[in-house]
Amino acid sequence: MTTYIGTATLRVDGRDKVTGAARYAGEYDAPDLAHGSVVTSTIAKGRIRRIDTNEAMKVDGVLVILTHENRPPMADSDKAYEDDVAPEGSPYRPLYDGEIKFNGQPVALVLAEDFETATYAASLVKVDYDEQPHVTDLERQLGNAVALDPPAKPRGDAAKAFATSDIKHQADYSVPIEHHNPMELFASTAVWHDGKLTVYDKTQGVQNVQRYLCGVFETKPDEIRVMSPFMGGGFGSGLRPQYQVVLAVLGARALKRSVRLVLTRQQMYMIGYRPAMIQRIQLGAKPDGTLNAITHDATTMTSQYEDFHRNETTWSGLLYKSEAASYAHSLVRLDLPTACDMRAPSAATGVYALEAAMDELAVALKMDPLELRLKCYSDSDQSTGLPFSSKNLRECYSQGAEAFGWNKRSFEPRSMRDGNDLIGWGMATGIWEALQVPITVRITLTGNGHAEVACATSDIGTGTYTIMAQVAADMLGLPIDNITVKLGDSTLPPSPVEGGSWIAASVSNGIVTTSNAIRDELLKMAQAMPNSALKGALADDVMLTNGSIMSKKNPRSTVMVADAMRHAGIERVTQEKATKFKKGGKHAHNTHSAIFAEVKVDEQLGVIRVTRLVGAVAAGRILNLKTAHSQVMGGMIWGMGMALHEETLVDHRFGRIMNANIAEYHVPVNADVHNIEVIFVDEQDDIVNPMGIKGLGEIGIVGVPAAIANAVYHATGKRVRDLPITLDKLT
Ligand code: MOS
Repeated sequence: MTTYIGTATLRVDGRDKVTGAARYAGEYDAPDLAHGSVVTSTIAKGRIRRIDTNEAMKVDGVLVILTHENRPPMADSDKAYEDDVAPEGSPYRPLYDGEIKFNGQPVALVLAEDFETATYAASLVKVDYDEQPHVTDLERQLGNAVALDPPAKPRGDAAKAFATSDIKHQADYSVPIEHHNPMELFASTAVWHDGKLTVYDKTQGVQNVQRYLCGVFETKPDEIRVMSPFMGGGFGSGLRPQYQVVLAVLGARALKRSVRLVLTRQQMYMIGYRPAMIQRIQLGAKPDGTLNAITHDATTMTSQYEDFHRNETTWSGLLYKSEAASYAHSLVRLDLPTACDMRAPSAATGVYALEAAMDELAVALKMDPLELRLKCYSDSDQSTGLPFSSKNLRECYSQGAEAFGWNKRSFEPRSMRDGNDLIGWGMATGIWEALQVPITVRITLTGNGHAEVACATSDIGTGTYTIMAQVAADMLGLPIDNITVKLGDSTLPPSPVEGGSWIAASVSNGIVTTSNAIRDELLKMAQAMPNSALKGALADDVMLTNGSIMSKKNPRSTVMVADAMRHAGIERVTQEKATKFKKGGKHAHNTHSAIFAEVKVDEQLGVIRVTRLVGAVAAGRILNLKTAHSQVMGGMIWGMGMALHEETLVDHRFGRIMNANIAEYHVPVNADVHNIEVIFVDEQDDIVNPMGIKGLGEIGIVGVPAAIANAVYHATGKRVRDLPITLDKLT
């Protein structure tokens, strides 16, 4: 029964969020709360020679200043610092020793009676360094790149197929370092109770942080509980435990009292970022648009201590029909923090290059760019040969084009205008994976028709509370107001981090598994009643609806849940079940989108406005039309940022980020956003998982940067291949 699933149900936590009742990691209070402020390094590489804290210690209200020299004990092995999603390498260990690995690294933690005192005292800490030469410039270090294994098997002889193609396109595309910039700053409040800690942390995975802290501080699991009931945006920056949580716990252990530590926005820029990426794409085609060859080479960046990378070039392999394809990926190690996941990691950047190149190929072929995509359309994953469990990209193209009015586009660049503005129309394809992870859900149903649904997953702002309540309400046959969702607490049943667009599918199917166990238990109780209306009914033939257990075959055969429980002499039923998903099946699971963009470019000034964006998305069953729309719209706006605004700039003389603030790191604001239309294309999928859910967290951004870049070319006739397309690059 789907009263709630698939509707535009309002956020169940919306009221708490807009009234301030929802509390975030840096908002928890405790008696005797001490406040922290972090001192960060001003060099990119070297060693601390001396830290002088004398003057800072003299400030009234300062409690202690922790450095690598006087901190409480922490684990010594690298292994202890590996979290669930750590890349290969040796994780960074905050305040562990005097070695400096990046500019902006924490070197001291000042703890004081209040935040202002801590911040002022931190400004008085003096640090001397033995400095060593550093490298932070990706382009100048390309010669030192290390090759990684290609993400997918190459097919055919791509070099030869490219060389012998009638129509060829080759170009380099680049994307700079970008930062997540969630509204909520990184913060942790460690509440001390007689040696045990409850840590309120900004994280996308409470159990990941809990396991990590137990490793770092060599404590028993029941000594640290991690909570994150609300999160003001993560976008991947909160997948790994960040250093402020270590410092907050370190401070609490040193003082034996509660500590709150909130990083500044500037400090947040030094904990993770989307790696800059330089890509070369080659496309070879027949004159009719049939692809002969795709090659995709990518170089990305990471720190000197961990090899973070994703399969940036995979997308080119799987998306389009092409006889031959090959990929290469290399990594440059720099004296910066380790890069990390940021919304649609690898796809936002990799698909940008592929889809901009496809547009250039269409120009070379004198072919409509949408027609070229249709010509190369593939019903199977081209890398593995597996058919998709569902793929309704064709319908995305057609519904998106229809809504946009694509058939009115004139082919030639600079051929459409509106007064001083050149008008450009561009399009691109988007793709992401439909992933799912093992998860455990506990449900407690009481005789009065209320249920609590519990799982240690997070709601990073995506609407997880709401979809969990919707699915539980429908599965248990209760009004949504009777469902209480508990999440973001490490003591709840196990969940991996919320990321990769995998939680909606995973937790929803998890709720189905556990609800079915509840149903089975209730059916047994109902059948134990004298003259039971459900005598002989099989579990699969009954459902929970309107507070009763009902036969699907004969809807008049019902037993009230309350009666069954009363007869059994119990007040509540609890079930906790793990759900696993089959891996390595016979199908590929992906979400797809078609993006259409209109830009207006002032011919004299080069100012670009994105006046219309249409995104048509095929992502299986949509659980909540409202939160899904917000999710995709947010991704599309971010795609605008990637195309036109966002760029983290490093001053390579110092290895230091220059624009570590949201005044100088530009993101789209309301004035930049005009018409955005989101279309969900019907896509039924009974293979991917029982509920047919594919997830929406990442797909919204993918394809948007290329669609806009392609529109800018169509408007101006000028191809800018290094993002962001700022006006200086157009003139
Ligand atoms: Mo997402 S980049 O996996 O939070």
